[in-house]
Amino acid sequence: MDKRPIVEAMQRFYESQNISFHVPGHKHGALSELPRAFIDVMKFDYTELSGLDDYHHPESIIEEAQVLLAKTYSAQHSYFLVNGSTVGNLAMVYATCREGDRVLVQRNAHKSIFNALELVGTLPIFLTPEWDEVTHTATHISMATMKGAIEQYSDAKAIILTHPTYYGVTNPTMFEVIKMAHSYGIPVLVDEAHGAHFIATDEFPMSALEMGADVVVQSAHKTLPAMTMGSYLHIHSKLVSKDKVNRYLRMLQSSSPSYILLASLDDARQYIGTYSRGDYQLFLKTRMQFVESLRTIKSLEVIEVDDPLKLLLRVSKYTGYSLQKQMEHEGVYVELADPEQVLLILPLLKARHQFPYAEIRMKIKSAVEKCLKLQRDKIDIDYSHELQALSTLAVSYHDLQNKEEEFILYTKAAGRICAGMVIPYPPGIPLFVRGERITTTKLKMLADYLASGAMIQGEHDLGNKHLLVLKEEKI
Ligand SMILES: Cc1ncc(COP(=O)(O)O)c(C=O)c1O
Repeated sequence: MDKRPIVEAMQRFYESQNISFHVPGHKHGALSELPRAFIDVMKFDYTELSGLDDYHHPESIIEEAQVLLAKTYSAQHSYFLVNGSTVGNLAMVYATCREGDRVLVQRNAHKSIFNALELVGTLPIFLTPEWDEVTHTATHISMATMKGAIEQYSDAKAIILTHPTYYGVTNPTMFEVIKMAHSYGIPVLVDEAHGAHFIATDEFPMSALEMGADVVVQSAHKTLPAMTMGSYLHIHSKLVSKDKVNRYLRMLQSSSPSYILLASLDDARQYIGTYSRGDYQLFLKTRMQFVESLRTIKSLEVIEVDDPLKLLLRVSKYTGYSLQKQMEHEGVYVELADPEQVLLILPLLKARHQFPYAEIRMKIKSAVEKCLKLQRDKIDIDYSHELQALSTLAVSYHDLQNKEEEFILYTKAAGRICAGMVIPYPPGIPLFVRGERITTTKLKMLADYLASGAMIQGEHDLGNKHLLVLKEEKI
């Protein structure tokens, strides 16, 4: 578990002071005019040279590191991803579905899942998640909804779930859903982008892999000490072909992987693979002290979720955006803000680490005090709309390809077919999906999001109050 085959090989390569007549063109940083610290990193920016293996056909250090990765996560096969969980999500959908296949998908999925479904040309059935009154976020699919969906669409080629949510809320029905899906011969694909650390100790939530999921994708860069874009994909399945997943990973990823990224994935694997009880005890102790110290800040509400690495902070009557702004003035940058709160991702400390929690608490206190001096800006958003448990596209992905599109005022869009995803981001849950009919209920939610100052990603022009819709008469 202690070995880091890629890191060790790169270190040896560096020490041998080889001359570069190969890519990349910066020649170990020699030609770069970036600041010194950047160039120090570029010295390790290698490519697939003798002794450094081949990313897409690994036989030595990358193969060895990926075997260690599979062992660490108790998977049959594991892969390092250099294009984030985004590419893992694409590959798992491509490997299991064909054009016209039905897929059951949790609606509060990341946009990469929606992109994958569209690229493949699937017929998705979107499952509406439960609403959590504590975190004010959408969570998992209830067993009743899931059961109904599997029974109605027993020919589905895959079930796609997200676990945990961005906010660290886990899925209590996952185990049962996987069991039921397997009894129908349907593989379960899990976007576990926020759960790469779950295997640290038994006190963390259970990983989808442990619960029997067929393919699990994790953003190592989100919660482990890996560099941005570094992710893992694990397969443990009788239903999904590892060769197919691997083929799509080869098609979808660069033929020039970043070795710095691969090294950081190798290192992060060793980090989590050697995480000890002592490490956990230190993590827990410092975390508890931090949480308790935050609870003494007047007007600050601290909300703990299933994942101990996530923490929500709220100041009553103020949006998360206002708190975020004040925290940033104090030099404290959070993972995300929404109309209710900010989300912190805490560091997965080991026993040898220190983190300046006391100092941070002072900064947060100051941010809260400054926030309280501002004009109150929180608008109560009514999330209690009854949404259909299951929904499908009004116009299939295949048919969408040939349709013309236009921008219209969103207030006039009820009944039209949406042509661009509309995703309040964060938290990244699509309000409208391409090909869906626009309803008045959803338009009301959109108006609330806009009024609350949420950032809304996707293909739209909401700055000018316009949505992208199919150019055709009302259907
Ligand atoms: C739930 C979820 N899945 C997938 C992704 C994409 O991950 P990556 O940034 O590693 O490509 C994200 C990114 O925020 C995410 O939140």
